[in-house]
Parts: sequence; structure tokens; C-alpha cells
Amino acid sequence: MPATTSIWDLELPLLDTAGLEREESTAFAAGLAEDHWLARTDVGVAVLRYRDASRILRDRRFHNALSLLRVEGAEPDSFLATRPRSILSTEGEEHTRLRRLVSPAFTPAAANRHRPAMRRVVTSLLEPHLAAGRCEFVADICQPYPIPIICEVLGAPPEDWRQFSNWAGDIFKIFNGNLAEDAPAIEQASKELSAYIAEMVDERRRSPREDLLSDLIAAEEEGDRLSTDELAMLVRAVLMAGTDTTRNQLGCAMALFARYPEQWALLVADPVGLAPRAVEETMRYLGAVRATVRVASCDVEFDDVVFPAGTVVTTQLAAANRDSAEFADPGSFDITAERSAEQLTFGSGIHRCLGAALARAELQEAFSVLAEHLATVALDGPVLWKPPTFGIWGPASLPLAFETRRATVTPR
Ligand code: HEM
Repeated sequence: MPATTSIWDLELPLLDTAGLEREESTAFAAGLAEDHWLARTDVGVAVLRYRDASRILRDRRFHNALSLLRVEGAEPDSFLATRPRSILSTEGEEHTRLRRLVSPAFTPAAANRHRPAMRRVVTSLLEPHLAAGRCEFVADICQPYPIPIICEVLGAPPEDWRQFSNWAGDIFKIFNGNLAEDAPAIEQASKELSAYIAEMVDERRRSPREDLLSDLIAAEEEGDRLSTDELAMLVRAVLMAGTDTTRNQLGCAMALFARYPEQWALLVADPVGLAPRAVEETMRYLGAVRATVRVASCDVEFDDVVFPAGTVVTTQLAAANRDSAEFADPGSFDITAERSAEQLTFGSGIHRCLGAALARAELQEAFSVLAEHLATVALDGPVLWKPPTFGIWGPASLPLAFETRRATVTPR
């Protein structure tokens, strides 16, 4: 029998997290999930439990809500007007084709090529602060860390890192909610970045190297290849999706370690061995991406209810990561715990993070370098968290004090 009950006919509790800090809202949503799988929000509904969130993210009838985004008043051919065309906003066959072509360039083996560079960059960022025994972790380490790595991965030379950072900073202004003022800077940065990428693509076509762009150019399946426009879109996606996420996740993790010094001591005792599990547990306990948004592309029958076409569905990854049906003792932060399910902060389904292997490698290398050098970490002032409205969330400022394990740093 087809389901006829609309989700709007259900008696749903309200998930009203306005006014709550992001961490409090996780506990609130996870608490609500004990009794309800679905809640009402100000824009639609929120899925609270791990199993349902994973199922919805894997269900192709729910599309990424980015595909709905349109910027009012933008020039028809401008970046702002055409911006929604990215791998994240693509669905169906078009998305499948893209993922099939690009996935081989994003394997753990491809990410591992860059581990030595990751160690070098973290070490060079940490070194100037060792003598003082303190730093502002967000500004000194998180902020500058991902851009040189993404440039190294793409194959852009070190002298262009600053330029990439400026472009990324300007394009990110799209999320500031002040388009009237920011549009010219966003357009300009996007034009310059596109021209730079087009030149890089030409260059790599002539002489391929050991980098992501060369891998993407070489990507081919049954005669199908990525066009120059698609290559440019992917480079832009990697730059935009791979920088703010990683830096916020690193900030969230170190804020946690400062709060749980006994967990840091465990990592210090075995930096390389425990780093992988520590990355998974910090991402589970305090993920930088708290939720993803989907929209029902048609009337979706889901078990015994219907999500009417157009329903906006938020999958609460942070709450799902604390679901007691999946994780034993979900409220405890324990980097040695063997968890029976994978944390959901990379999402799930067809849009699951393409850069997950790279992000894992970046975080693992950062954790092990930090734990090899810092015997203890503690707060050196209050943590300032970003406002809860940010899509990607983490500390805006994290003053850390530490005791060092070594007087000098020698990169491996
Ligand atoms: C800790 C760091 C990171 C986190 C937490 C993260 C999280 C996510 C999440 C949740 C999604 C899915 C969004 C959705 O379903 O709506 C996603 C997609 C994506 N991520 Fe990441 N990400 C991280 C790092 C990276 C890095 C380093 C790269 C660069 C290679 C990257 C590239 C992408 C791309 C291209 C997509 C879109 C995939 C698609 O639509 O098929 N991410 N990421």
C-alpha cells in the first residue's frame, strides 16, 4: 500500500536552535532524537537519527539544496548567476559521470603522496611559537594550513599561495550575506582564478606532472573526458570545499583536546599510531559541518510517510554522530574507542566528501606533528566560537598555551 501520510500531518516537535550555541544545539537535537526521528524547523524538517540521515543522503530523490540557490539580480553570465553549477549542485547522470571520472584522483594513495608536504607545512607554522609556549591557534595554524596543501595538491607553485588565499577569501564572501557590497570582489576573484586555472590546464596538457590537475586531465573512461570548464569547476570546488572545512575541523579538534587534556596525553604517547582514530573521534564529537541540506525532488515515499516535493530536509550530522543506537556511550570523547559506525561529518551518499582521504591525511599529519612537539595543551584565554549561523563552523579564536617536548623541530 502506498504511503499517504504527509510528514506535515505528523505531530512534530520543533527543533529551534536559534539562540543556542552550536554545541548546545547538538545535545538538544540528540536529546530530541531519543523520542523523535523527525523535527520541524523554520525552513522545513530535520532528520535527527544516524540511520535516517544516512538513508536520506543516499536516496537520489533528495537533491542537494545548493541546486536551488539562485542569486537575485546578478548579470546572467556572471559568476554569481552561474555559481550553482558545481559538483555539489549537480545531480543524476551528470553527477555520476563527474564522480566516476574524478574519483580515481581522490584515493587515499593519491592523498598520501602529499603527507611529507603536510608535515613540512604544519612544522613550519608551529616552529615560530615553540619558544613562547603559546599561540593563537586559529590565526597561527588553522588559517594558513590548508591553502599551501591545496596548492601543492593541485600543483600550483609556492609563490602563488598568497594569491590563492586571497581568491578563496574573496569568493567565500558569498556566504557573508552582504552581496550588494561584496559582488564586485567576488566577481573579480572568480575571473582571475578562472584565468589562472585555464593557463594551468594548458600547461599541464603540454607537460603532465605528479599532481591532481594532471590526474584530472588524464582521467578518462570509455573515451569520455573532462572539459576545460569542468576542470576549472573542479579546481574551484577543491579550493572552496577543501580549505575552510579543514581549518575549522582542526580548530574544533584542538579546542576539544584543550578541554580533555587526558585525551591529548594519550595522543602524545602514540602520535602516529593514534592519529587516525583521533581524527575520526574529534570529527564525530565536534564536526565542523553540523548539517547538510536536501530538498525532495518529487513526492518521496519514505517508509510509511511522504515528503512532499519541495520539502527542505536538514540532515543533522552532528546529532546523528551522537546517536546512541550507533555509538556506545556517544556523549563521551574517547580517541581510543573502537566505534562500530563511521562518523557522518563527511556526509554520505553520492555527494559524500570527495576530499575525505585528503582531509583525513591533513588532519592526521597535523595531529601527529603537534603531538610530537607539544607535551600538553591548555586554553590560554576564552575560546571565541563562530556564530551558529555559519555553514562551516569552528572557533574564531583559540588561544592555546603548551609545554614543548623538543627544543628544536626537525621535519621528517
Ligand atoms: C575536515 C574537512 C572536511 C569536511 C568536514 C568536509 C565535509 C564535506 C561534506 C559534509 C560534504 C557533503 C555535502 C553535502 O552532502 O551536501 C562534502 C562534499 C565535498 N567535499 Fe568535503 N569536507 C572536508 C574536506 C574536503 C577537502 C580537503 C576537499 C578537497 C579535495 C573537499 C572537497 C569536497 C567536494 C568537491 C565535495 C562535493 C562532492 C560532491 O558533491 O560530489 N572536502 N564535504
